[in-house]
Amino acid sequence: MRTTCTPKRRARRSARACPCPQRTGRVIRVERADNLAFMRTIPDASVHLVVTSPPYNLGKDYERRSSLDAYLAAQAEVVVEAVRVLHPRGSICWQVGNFVDNGEIVPLDVVLYDIFAKQDLKLRNRIVWHFGHGLHCKRRLSGRYETINWWTKTDDYTWHLDPIRVPPKYPGKRHFKGPKAGELSCNPLGKNPSDVWEIPNVKSNHPEKTVHPCQFPVELIERLVLSMTDPGDIVLDPYMGVGSAVIAAEMHGRTGYGCDTSDEYVAIARQRLGQLADGTLRTRPMGKPIYNPDLPRGGH
Ligand SMILES: C[S@@+](CC[C@H](N)C(=O)[O-])C[C@H]1O[C@@H](n2cnc3c(N)ncnc32)[C@H](O)[C@@H]1O
Repeated sequence: MRTTCTPKRRARRSARACPCPQRTGRVIRVERADNLAFMRTIPDASVHLVVTSPPYNLGKDYERRSSLDAYLAAQAEVVVEAVRVLHPRGSICWQVGNFVDNGEIVPLDVVLYDIFAKQDLKLRNRIVWHFGHGLHCKRRLSGRYETINWWTKTDDYTWHLDPIRVPPKYPGKRHFKGPKAGELSCNPLGKNPSDVWEIPNVKSNHPEKTVHPCQFPVELIERLVLSMTDPGDIVLDPYMGVGSAVIAAEMHGRTGYGCDTSDEYVAIARQRLGQLADGTLRTRPMGKPIYNPDLPRGGH
């Protein structure tokens, strides 16, 4: 898919943010395809970030439920191909929740761990993504987090902390004694966001909601893109859905690649990328405070 740049579109966007290939020389790839077939068209070691959320084998509309062993074997094939296309300085972020069978849960990152470790990947963080909405369970606690396992191919990986720093708890705090007395005690650019991220999931009142039942919030992927890639790098989502990861990549001057087996989701991804180019795509801004009913205007 090429995002065309018309004078009207250009006028509506700042030149810096316009992701069109006429300006950047980069070509977005968004295709309806099985991910193994799609990835086989990508050269070795050319992708800097593979970020994705596969089906969880729950029997949702977009997947066929199988045995856990068959599911893991299929995942292993996709992981091997993801590692092949990954640049030596690149990262893989695999976002998953639980497989649930008759009320018994299997945390998928736990059972997927060996598949990644066998590829000699190195686990850097197990990011806990905490969110507020989901099923209300009756016979166990309601699940309100999923995980993103961040793997790198080598020890020399691309990593930028500054673009994803968050406001410190006590912004003006200063050292009160010692040689640094009076100086700011925290980094003026903000603090490390830690490995627990509270980001609203995309439910009915979220500005990014489409028909997809499990889409990424774009801000979740923006953090990964900004910290694990450089401008111009390729970001791949092999289970693209409605294109949230490709959008996050394009928003920050990276090149997004994605595929999905659903015609409907691919059409929506293309439509959203068109809106991004037009400047009409609504996304929840990175860093926007979580709605808090106890504060005036929810704290916004
Ligand atoms: C959990 S959803 C990902 C949603 C995505 N993160 C987003 O923001 O929209 C998993 C997606 O994988 C797609 N899918 C399932 N099997 C696939 C395959 N073999 N190749 C490509 N996509 C596949 C499904 O259609 C579904 O949209």
